[in-house]
Amino acid sequence: MSSNKECQDSGDKNATPRRPARRRFLQSAAAAATVGAAPHLRAQDQSPSAPPAQARDAVPPRPVTLTINGRAYALRLEPRVTLLDALREYAGLMGTKKGCDRGQCGACTVLADGRRINSCLTLAVMHEGQNITTVEGLAANGALSPMQRAFIEHDAFQCGYCTPGQLCSATALLSEFRDGAASTVTADVRRRPAQFSDDEIRERMSGNICRCGAYANIVAAVRAVHEGGSQSGSAASDGNGNGTGNA
Ligand code: FES
Ligand code: FES
Repeated sequence: MSSNKECQDSGDKNATPRRPARRRFLQSAAAAATVGAAPHLRAQDQSPSAPPAQARDAVPPRPVTLTINGRAYALRLEPRVTLLDALREYAGLMGTKKGCDRGQCGACTVLADGRRINSCLTLAVMHEGQNITTVEGLAANGALSPMQRAFIEHDAFQCGYCTPGQLCSATALLSEFRDGAASTVTADVRRRPAQFSDDEIRERMSGNICRCGAYANIVAAVRAVHEGGSQSGSAASDGNGNGTGNA
C-alpha cells in the first residue's frame, strides 16, 4: 500500500519506490554487520574458565648455569630468555646495556669464549659451558684494562651508554686483528698482518653505534691500544683477576 502511495505522490507511475529500497538496503547492511561481528561475539562467549593462550604455551623455567666473568651463576631461566636479559635481570650484571634489543646498535655486546656477540640476539641456554665476559670482567685485579684506560684518556664517550659494548667490541677487535682476520676494507687479504688503519678500526667497530657521536675518539683509543702493544690480561678476566681467555 505504501509503495502505491509513494508512486502517486511523486506523480510518476513508472518510478521505482525509493523508501522500501532504502529499507531493504539498511536491512541487508545490518545483517552483514551482524555476520561480521559474530566471531567477536563468539570469542566473548567463551567460558571464563578457559586458560589464556599465553598461559597454556608457557615453558617452565629450568636450571641454567652460566659462567660470567669467571664466576658460575646458577639461574632458573625460561628457554626464551635472551643472554642480555639473563645478564641484567637474573645475574644482576647491569653493565651490559639494552639499546635496540634487535641486533642493530651493539650496546649489548659481550664476549662468548672471546668472540664478540650481540647478547640480545642469542638465548642464554645456548651459552652454558662458555666463558661469558661482560664489561664488568674486563678489569683485572681492580685495575682497568688498557682499552678502558685508553677510552678515558682519549675521551671516547659522552653519556657512556654505548661504552660497555664499545669496550667489549674493541677488546675483541684487537684479538681478531692479531689472529689475522680480514675485514671488508682489508686491501690485500693475502698480506698478514693487514695494515691497522683507521678505516680498519671504523669498519670493525661499525656494529657499535654511538648516539653521542664519539667515533673519532673511539678510533683514537683503539689505535692507541694497538700501537701500545699487546693488551695481555685485559681481554677476559673477572673482577678477581681470573682470566677467562680471549681466544
Ligand atoms: S641491544 Fe643488542 S644490538 Fe642493540
Ligand atoms: S657515549 Fe653516548 S651513546 Fe656513545
